[in-house]
Amino acid sequence: MDKLLIRGGACLNGELRASGAKNSAVLMLAASLLANEPVRLTNVPHLRDITTMIELLGSLGVEVVIDEKMGIEIHANTIKSFRAPYDLVRTMRASFLVLGPMLAHYGQAEVSLPGGCAIGPRPVDQHLKGLAALGANIEMDEGYVKASVDGRLKGTRFIFDFSTVGGTEHVMMAATLAEGETLLENCAREPEIVDLADCLNEMGADITGAGTDTIRIRGVEALTGCDHRVISDRVETASYLIAAAATGGRVKMKGTVPVHLDAVLAKLTEAGARIETGEDWISLDMEGRRPRAVSLVTAPYPAFPTDLQAQILAMNAVSEGTATVRETIFENRFMHVHEMNRMGARISLEGNNTTAIVEGVERLKAAPVMANDLRASVSLVIAGLVAEGDTVVDRIYHIDRGYEQVEEKLKNLGADITRIHA
Ligand code: EPU
Repeated sequence: MDKLLIRGGACLNGELRASGAKNSAVLMLAASLLANEPVRLTNVPHLRDITTMIELLGSLGVEVVIDEKMGIEIHANTIKSFRAPYDLVRTMRASFLVLGPMLAHYGQAEVSLPGGCAIGPRPVDQHLKGLAALGANIEMDEGYVKASVDGRLKGTRFIFDFSTVGGTEHVMMAATLAEGETLLENCAREPEIVDLADCLNEMGADITGAGTDTIRIRGVEALTGCDHRVISDRVETASYLIAAAATGGRVKMKGTVPVHLDAVLAKLTEAGARIETGEDWISLDMEGRRPRAVSLVTAPYPAFPTDLQAQILAMNAVSEGTATVRETIFENRFMHVHEMNRMGARISLEGNNTTAIVEGVERLKAAPVMANDLRASVSLVIAGLVAEGDTVVDRIYHIDRGYEQVEEKLKNLGADITRIHA
């Protein structure tokens, strides 16, 4: 298993280009199963989660052609099987979302239940309720969801019990090929949902309201191909901004969408960073100062995202003052706290592990660390950058799931970081 060796102390400085959004691209790969013609995606990041999804499509018999610039063309009408096996679904939860598109297009699908994961149990009840409301017959059999429909799904009105990104995307995709109109209420509003709706509309779907809590989908009989450019990854962009802030540095992220990060930029400003934005760039300058610790609560978009909680905690760990960070999306997303404390951070967990109280220290101390999820792993890389000595972060296959060329990008900003190939 590869590891990253980080010699702490560098002040990050420079410019980077944001990669395409993982959480948009994986969904569009699933959505391509709705089309009768080739779907072409560009600005797809080169990541393990993308490869896993392509492998899953391949196991269904779908032809996928990748060019040298990670342009991906998916020919879904070459599909031969409607069964997504446990071995692939368990490694990446988003692959469960092939269920709705296969069901809507081919009237049948059999997909393994994803099971729990490192950050919490993550049920899919809202996905299944939404598909059932569209008229799907759903049965559970030996860990698989078997879904079928006679003819087409039927448009309906469905209200989600709470905000769910995957649930909203899943039911929205399935409703594109339903007979009649579907009204989805209490929807999640994340930018990746809007990007997915844009891509589906380019395929001939009729979706309005994505990005608000009510989405209207007028079902169409068939979807065609399209040529879609994936939006930039807001979580990746912000991870580098936070890393720069933690080191007292200065960084400009290009090819990004500043408005997607309003809540995060507000927190970084509160931490003492000077933020400037243009149409497609964000710059952050800490002017060599130590950040001030910032309190926050994670919540659905447009509030502060759970996917940046671990990274901001790493910054808070070396900031001036004390802060409270409360996680409201996932039950078990503070595992990085124990690792950071092994590096000399002063973080305690309260409220049944839902709230971290961070008392900033001047500097962390290097230690061998590892994490069980993507964002926690990158937060330990940030901790390593602000630690005295050489930190080794183990199990970085988690980072490779979501950060394209992480060590090259950090090296470009002046970090002393090396990948150790096991
Ligand atoms: N939930 C249910 N039932 C459902 C669906 C969700 O109880 O049917 C719960 C989840 O367990 C969680 C909460 O609702 O506690 C919100 O989950 P949501 O469905 O919004 O999350 P997701 O679709 O599974 C996506 C991202 C995550 C990101 C969350 C929250 C993708 C592929 N994944 O997950 O990204 O943390 O939204 O914003 O889009 C990551 O990139 O590291 C990552 C984990």
